[in-house]
Amino acid sequence: MPEVIYLNGRIVPREEAVISIDDRGFLFGDAIYEVIRSYDGRLWAFERHMQRLVGSLAAIDMAYVHVEGIGKAIRETYTASEIPDALVYLQVTRGVAPRSHAYTRDLQPTVLITVRDISGGVAEVSPDGMTAVSKPDLRWRRCDVKSTNLLPNILAKTQAHEEGAYEAILVHPDGYVTEGSSTSVFWVRGGKVCTVPLGPEVLPSISRGIVAEIAQDAKLPCVEERLPVDDFRRADEIFLTSTTPEVCPIIRLDDRPVGSGQAGPITRRIREAFRARVEAGDDAPR
Ligand code: PDD
Repeated sequence: MPEVIYLNGRIVPREEAVISIDDRGFLFGDAIYEVIRSYDGRLWAFERHMQRLVGSLAAIDMAYVHVEGIGKAIRETYTASEIPDALVYLQVTRGVAPRSHAYTRDLQPTVLITVRDISGGVAEVSPDGMTAVSKPDLRWRRCDVKSTNLLPNILAKTQAHEEGAYEAILVHPDGYVTEGSSTSVFWVRGGKVCTVPLGPEVLPSISRGIVAEIAQDAKLPCVEERLPVDDFRRADEIFLTSTTPEVCPIIRLDDRPVGSGQAGPITRRIREAFRARVEAGDDAPR
C-alpha cells in the first residue's frame, strides 16, 4: 500500500512534501522524532509514545507545542492510510528561520508524519538471532532525548553493517555498555534480566519498558546495572529491543558466540510474551 504523508496540517502527495532550506531541522538537526508501529489496524503503545514526545519537546525548549494536536494528526493520517501494519514516523522541527544558532520561540514548528506499509515484516531480523559488534559510544550527554541528531548512531550502524553485523552495541567512554545504535540492550546473567538504568545515557525506550514489565510479571529478577563490555561479552544471553524488531536475540558479539550461540531460553520467553502482549493490545501505560 502507498505511503501516506502529512506535512504541516494536511495530507499531501509525495511531490508536495517539501521542506524549506531554512528549516532548522535541516540546518541544525533542531528536531525530535518518534517511531510508532501499528499492528492489525491499531497503533501500538501510542500513549507511551506521546508521553515520550512531551518529554523530548520539553527537553529541547519546545514545551509550547500542542502535543494533543500532533496526536490527533497521527491518528487521522494513520486512519487515512488504511495500512493495518505500518511504521509511523513523526518529526517535529523548531521551524523555519534564516540560519542563526540562537532560536526564538515564535517559530511555527514543522510537523511531518509518514505512514509506511511494513506488512512484509522487518525482513532483516531473524527470531533465531542476529550478530552485533561493539563500538565506542560517541554521542552527546542527552541520549534520553529522541533527537534527530543521529550522526554517531548512523556511523556506528553502518560500520556494523559493513562488518557483517546487524547492530552496533555502544560502549560508554567509561567502559560499560549503553544501548544499540537504534535499539535498547538487555542481557541475562545467572537468570537475571539486566539492562542499563534510565538516565541521560540511554533513550527511555518504549519496548524496554514493556520488556521490563514482562520480566516483572514473569517474576524474573530484574537488575539495572552499568556492565563493563568484557563482562557483557560473557553474558548468558543478549537481546535487543526496539519498536521495529521487537525482541531480537543476539547470538554472536564481536565474532564470538554469546552463551550457547543460540537464542537463549529467557530471550525466547520474553519474545513470546512480547508477541502475546501485542496480540492482546496490552500496551496501556502502567
Ligand atoms: N529507534 N535506543 C535508541 C538509540 C533508539 O534509536 C531506539 C529506537 C531504541 C528503542 O526505542 P523504542 O523501543 O522506543 O523503539 C533505543 C527507532 C525505532 C528509530 O530510530 O528508528
